[in-house]
Amino acid sequence: MQSLLNKKIVLGISGGIAAYKAPELARQLMQEGASVQVVMTEAAQQFVTPVTLQALTGNPVYLSQWDSTIPNNMAHIELSRSADAILIAPASADLMAKLSLGLADDLLTTLCLARDCPLLLTPAMNKQMWEHPATQRSAQRLIDDGVALLGPASGFQACGEIGMGRMLEPAEITEQVISFFQKKSLAGKKVLITAGPTFEAIDPVRGITNHSSGKMGFAIARAAVEAGAQVYLIAGPCDLPTPLDATGQIVRTNVVSAKEMHAATLGATDCDIFFAVAAVADWGIAKPAKEKIKRQGNQAPNLEFVANPDILLDIAKAAKTKAGKPHPYCVGFAAESTDLEKHADEKRKRKGIPMIVGNIGPDTFGSDLNQLIVIDSAGSKKIAKAEKLQLARQLIALVAKKI
Ligand code: CTP
Repeated sequence: MQSLLNKKIVLGISGGIAAYKAPELARQLMQEGASVQVVMTEAAQQFVTPVTLQALTGNPVYLSQWDSTIPNNMAHIELSRSADAILIAPASADLMAKLSLGLADDLLTTLCLARDCPLLLTPAMNKQMWEHPATQRSAQRLIDDGVALLGPASGFQACGEIGMGRMLEPAEITEQVISFFQKKSLAGKKVLITAGPTFEAIDPVRGITNHSSGKMGFAIARAAVEAGAQVYLIAGPCDLPTPLDATGQIVRTNVVSAKEMHAATLGATDCDIFFAVAAVADWGIAKPAKEKIKRQGNQAPNLEFVANPDILLDIAKAAKTKAGKPHPYCVGFAAESTDLEKHADEKRKRKGIPMIVGNIGPDTFGSDLNQLIVIDSAGSKKIAKAEKLQLARQLIALVAKKI
């Protein structure tokens, strides 16, 4: 799935060592379907050559407002007129200061002043430069003017220091640009999500778990952030990175057992929507052994099970009514081996929740693809087979309408 199909992005590059990442960024934006038009400042050309960007994007690279080969010499107007966004990566302290004051003394700054489209900046500089009051003033002014700042991040810097000011990685910038273009249907909302499997210990080295990869829950977390929500993600044991981590819009809590997931989730119920996506173990071991259980000939150990709490049921029970709607609005998930729609709807009623989502098809665990059926009191609606992120975006749009 290409998430930036038909988007025209002007990629501005200013002078800073992070400019070496700009060609990779251009490539990733194009892989997502965007067309990329590069504009470079004079200083940027000290770090990366226009030819590299021209070869990668397949477009001429604009360098100066005094270029007499441009027919009406109006590149600053033409480029921004046709663009969906101007993205500047890296955005140096000097460039940010100029933009915050409305200065326009080269093609890139003129283009920004004359623009009729969103402007996204990815700051990149040494930590002292970032922390300097002048830069902080520029950053705040730009935010007040409606400019989106992506990053910076903290970490190792080219100057040898560690701190705030490092440019986000091209993959993170691309994710945030994709996110920027999504509809903000959950702006100001809080979304709680359980995701992944749980693990019930038998002894310190063994346990019972399931095949849930966490991919669907994490895709819903990403889609909710893209839609403008603050997300609380309670994750069972899975290796997935937190999506859109650099935005700070996801607070992740890692848990192991169903009991831990229950406690963490019930401690975060002040939210507008709850997606119970985790495959929670129905039973745990009554008394997990403190030391590894040793083999005793051919005799298997007798394990005693106890029922785990039902997280979704407990949250639905505690839900209140706000403006005639359940709060939080609870969405359950169901994977059934037979009669999916019937069993899922029974589960929806039994748990007292307004909506349940059935996983269609046998290959959902671990796969990047899925197919869903969304069931509420009004009936059911299928969402055709697609990548989990795409399904998650459609599901978020449906739920946003319900609340
Ligand atoms: N769920 C939960 N806590 C549990 C068990 C399930 O929150 N202890 C949630 C799941 O996250 C999912 C929904 O309930 O959203 C249905 O999960 P499922 O395992 O299918 O339901 P069960 O009630 O366990 O029913 P069964 O296993 O008998 O089909």
